[in-house]
Amino acid sequence: MAKHKTPLLDQLESGPWPSFVSDVKQEAEARAKNEKGLDYQIPVDCPEDLLGVLELSYEDGETHWKHGGIVGVFGYGGGVIGRYCDQPEKFPGVAHFHTMRVAQPAGKWYTTKFLRDVCDLWDLRGSGLTNMHGSTGDIVLLGTTTPQLEEIFFELTHNLDNDLGGSGSNLRTPAACMGMSRCEYACYNTQELCYNLTQEYQDELHRPAFPYKFKFKFDGCPNGCVAAIARSDLGFLGTWKGAIQIDQEAVAAYVGGEIAPNAGAHADGDWGAFDIQKEVVDICPSQCISYEDGKLKIDNSECVRCMHCINTMPRALRPGVERGTSIFCGAKAPILDGPQMGSLLVPFVEVNADDDYQAIKDIIEGVWDWWMEEGKNRERVGETMKRLGFGALVRAAGVPFDPRQVQEPRHNPYIFWKADDVEGGWDRDINDYRERHQR
Ligand code: HEM
Ligand code: HEM
Ligand code: SF4
Ligand code: SF4
Repeated sequence: MAKHKTPLLDQLESGPWPSFVSDVKQEAEARAKNEKGLDYQIPVDCPEDLLGVLELSYEDGETHWKHGGIVGVFGYGGGVIGRYCDQPEKFPGVAHFHTMRVAQPAGKWYTTKFLRDVCDLWDLRGSGLTNMHGSTGDIVLLGTTTPQLEEIFFELTHNLDNDLGGSGSNLRTPAACMGMSRCEYACYNTQELCYNLTQEYQDELHRPAFPYKFKFKFDGCPNGCVAAIARSDLGFLGTWKGAIQIDQEAVAAYVGGEIAPNAGAHADGDWGAFDIQKEVVDICPSQCISYEDGKLKIDNSECVRCMHCINTMPRALRPGVERGTSIFCGAKAPILDGPQMGSLLVPFVEVNADDDYQAIKDIIEGVWDWWMEEGKNRERVGETMKRLGFGALVRAAGVPFDPRQVQEPRHNPYIFWKADDVEGGWDRDINDYRERHQR
C-alpha cells in the first residue's frame, strides 16, 4: 500500500522504456517486506517519501530540495553531496537525502560479487536507490543520512577496498572509454591510463586545492565514446602517426558485398548496395583516399585521422602502428563565459607505461602549477586560457608551439611582442625622435 498518492508519476509507468517509477515502487515494496530482516539504518519508507516529494514537485513545477548542503567524511574535502528536503514534516524519510559518489572501475566492468556487496551495504545504510552512473562516471548512491556517512565510508574502504569519488574544487573522478578491453580502434590503454592517473592524483581528488573543478577523460580514438573533448578540462584522445593499415582483400570483400559496411550499423534501413566511392572516398574530409583498379590508396600525409574510413570498413582498415594520444584543454559548460570544447594543446604524445606516463604527468602538472597560481576563484582552466591567452597555457604545459594548435591564424593585428624580441626594447626617448621629427 503506497504511502502517498502519485497520480502524475503513475503515468510514467506506461510506455516501453524501463520506468524509474516502477523501479522505485518495487524497491519501496521490498523494503516494506524486508525479507532479509535488515535493521534499516535510515527510514524504511525513504523511497516512498522520495516518490511523494517528487509528485509534489510535479504538481507545482518546483524543486523541494533546500539550497546546498555541506557534509562529508573526515580527511576528505569532497565526495558527498549533502541535501535536505524543504518539506521534512511531510516527507521525513527524505529529510536528509545525501548522495555519495563512489569511485568506479575504468570502463565500468563489474563482477556480480562486487555489485552485490555494494547493494548489501547500501540496502542497510542508504535508500536502496542509485544512479548507475553519474555523468562524470561515479557510482552514485542516492539518499542517506549524515550519521551513516562515516559508517558507509568505513565499510566501503575496509570491506570493499573501494574509495569515494570527487566533488568540489578539485580533480573529479576520471573516466575512460572501454578502450583496449573490447575495441579494435583503441590507440592506447585508456583504462590503464585512467586508473594510473586516478591513483597518482588521489590527494588532488579528495582534498580540494584548486581554483575550481578539474576533470580528466580518456578516449582511445577520435570517435570519443567518453566525450573527453566536450566534458573534460584535459581530454586525452588516442591517435596514430603514419599509415592507416589496409587489408586489400577485406576491401574487396566490402566492395563485393560480403561484409556489411559500418559493421551493419545501418542494416535497419535500405541504403542500397555498398558503394565505396560514395560512402568512403567522396566523404573523406581530406579527399586523400582513392579507389582505382580494385585498390584502395590513402595519402596518409593528408589524412586528419577522422576515423570515417576505418569506422565504415573496420575489417579492412586499422589505425596505424605508431600510436599515442592528443591532449585537449579547456572544455566546459556555458557558465560563466560560454561553452567550450577542448582546444588542441599537444598534437601527439606517447602513452608510455614503462616510465609511468611521465611525459603526460609533466604536462598535467605544468598546467596545474600555472592555473593554481593564476586562475581566479571559480574560473575553469578554459576560462583562464581565454583570459590570459592560449600562449600562456602552451608555455605552462611546457610543450612547443605548433600550427596544429590553431584552426586558423588570427585576423586582427593586435599582436603583443615581448620587449626582448624587439630590437632596442620599449625604452625610448621622445627627444631622439624630435631630432628627426619636428612637432
Ligand atoms: C575621433 C576620432 C577617433 C575615435 C573616437 C577613435 C576611437 C577608437 C576606439 C574606441 C578604439 C578602440 C580602442 C580599444 O582597443 O579599446 C580605437 C583604436 C584605434 N584607433 Fe582610433 N579613434 C579615432 C581616431 C583615430 C585616428 C585618427 C587613428 C589613426 C590615425 C586611429 C587609429 C586607431 C588605431 C590604430 C587603433 C587600435 C589601437 C590598438 O588597439 O592598439 N584612431 N580608436
Ligand atoms: C576629427 C578627425 C581628425 C582630426 C581633427 C585629425 C587631425 C589630424 C592632425 C592635426 C594631424 C597632424 C597633421 C600634421 O601634424 O601633419 C593628423 C594626422 C593624420 N591623420 Fe588625422 N585627423 C582626424 C581624423 C583622421 C582619420 C579618421 C584618419 C584615418 C583613419 C586620420 C589619419 C591621419 C594620418 C594618417 C595622419 C598622419 C600622421 C602622421 O604620419 O604624422 N586622421 N590628423
Ligand atoms: S573512443 Fe575509440 S577506442 Fe574508445 S571505445 Fe570509442 S571507438 Fe573504441
Ligand atoms: S581517417 Fe578520415 S581523413 Fe583519414 S583517410 Fe580516413 S576518411 Fe580520410
